[in-house]
Amino acid sequence: MADIEMKNIVKKYGDGFPAVNDVTLDVQDGEFMILVGPSGCGKSTLLRMIVGLEDITSGEMKIGGKVVNTIAPRQRNLSMVFQNYALYPHLTVFENIAFPLRLAKKPDDEVRRRVNETAELLELTEHLERKPANLSGGQRQRVAMGRAIVRQADAFLFDEPLSNLDAKLRGQMRAEISRLQRRLGVTTVYVTHDQTEAMTLGDRVAVLRKGVLQQVGSPRELYEEPSNLFVAGFIGSPSMNFLPATIEKAADGTHLDTPLGRFPMPEKGHAAASGDRSVVLVGVRPEHFEDATLVSDEKRARGAVVRAHVDVTEWLGNELYAYVPYEAPADLADKLRDLSRELDSDQMRTQAVVALDPASLITEGQQAELWIDTGRIQLFDPATGENLTRDEDRVTELARRAEQARQAQRRGQNGAASGNGEAKAEERTEEPGSASAEPGTNPD
Ligand SMILES: Nc1ncnc2c1ncn2[C@@H]1O[C@H](COP(=O)(O)OP(=O)(O)O)[C@@H](O)[C@H]1O
Ligand SMILES: [Mg+2]
Repeated sequence: MADIEMKNIVKKYGDGFPAVNDVTLDVQDGEFMILVGPSGCGKSTLLRMIVGLEDITSGEMKIGGKVVNTIAPRQRNLSMVFQNYALYPHLTVFENIAFPLRLAKKPDDEVRRRVNETAELLELTEHLERKPANLSGGQRQRVAMGRAIVRQADAFLFDEPLSNLDAKLRGQMRAEISRLQRRLGVTTVYVTHDQTEAMTLGDRVAVLRKGVLQQVGSPRELYEEPSNLFVAGFIGSPSMNFLPATIEKAADGTHLDTPLGRFPMPEKGHAAASGDRSVVLVGVRPEHFEDATLVSDEKRARGAVVRAHVDVTEWLGNELYAYVPYEAPADLADKLRDLSRELDSDQMRTQAVVALDPASLITEGQQAELWIDTGRIQLFDPATGENLTRDEDRVTELARRAEQARQAQRRGQNGAASGNGEAKAEERTEEPGSASAEPGTNPD
């Protein structure tokens, strides 16, 4: 096992465009790190530089304390699982998993023992003699994973391994991968464009935008204290709403005037209103709205109530989504549309998506009173995207707690897995550049 240290990593392809631009990121030993961002933001490129399948233009890549910039993939002892994982159709599940061990010319009894252990871990034991064609998609995915973990590499690298699976299977495999990683405790870097995977799988998440690292933190930190508009919009589903607002300084205090209504500036926003700043984007998560008729007086008093036209509602049983269109000044509307496009969202109009208590009787086409939990809104600079309300103390506290939880989890796992100690101490297998040795076609 090993930590991975990336320092000022740049990758320029032939056209000189930096696909990865000055990324500095440490993945700790045993940590599960997610790289997330929209398609084309440089995730795969970064992962491929870790493995050694792509040259590093500048910067330093260290694995286990050793600079690996010029070290061949084979010598890095890393194991990678690709999106288009490919199994050998003519080999049994057993031999597919055993493949890297066979290449490393391991003795038969060791191969048997390790493949059986791996198959057990992945619940593939009863399928070992079958061929890939006779397996379900999820089983095939598990075989591909088995082949990656059978080698006891220093780190696992996953490039969107679940994106070819249907939603239900993805959910199951997500839980599987999470359990497996915790159990094995091997340093893992996992690339995805799916914010749900990012939120549920990792110890920490690194958000990339156009090759530039935006923020690294626990899922909770990214959700509650995003550093900018991009992270705020990317993490969370449905996305955070961004309402353009003018700051009004009146005799009765400072107010935010938004297309949904005017309300007092919350305590945390006062710093943002200092100086001659007059316009901000107000970020409100869908769940920080509520049907005002369902809100207690006490709760009502610590938020604000606005009247809004509800265009469409979706009642899902456990949640009620309401869509509230609004007018935004042209320049800001353009900006929000650009952001939405960049976030791979298909939202065409400026509208707020609000998640209400399903007990609400609000129906579409209605003027409704909506309560906003104004203490939890965030304010963003429309020009730079910077979060003007980020609470640094809370960020530190969230990071501390996340690290504590990870350590506790690892201690628990080490206790439970101590029986496997001898297996981990074994000599390393070679053939980490499995990319070149694997069949190029996707059997699906
Ligand atoms: N071999 C290549 N040659 C030139 N440009 C590339 C190559 N591979 C990727 N790119 C470009 O680098 C950027 C990042 O790509 P990639 O790392 O594949 O993104 P992601 O995995 O986040 O979708 C994209 O703009 C892509 O077009
Ligand atoms: Mg990719």
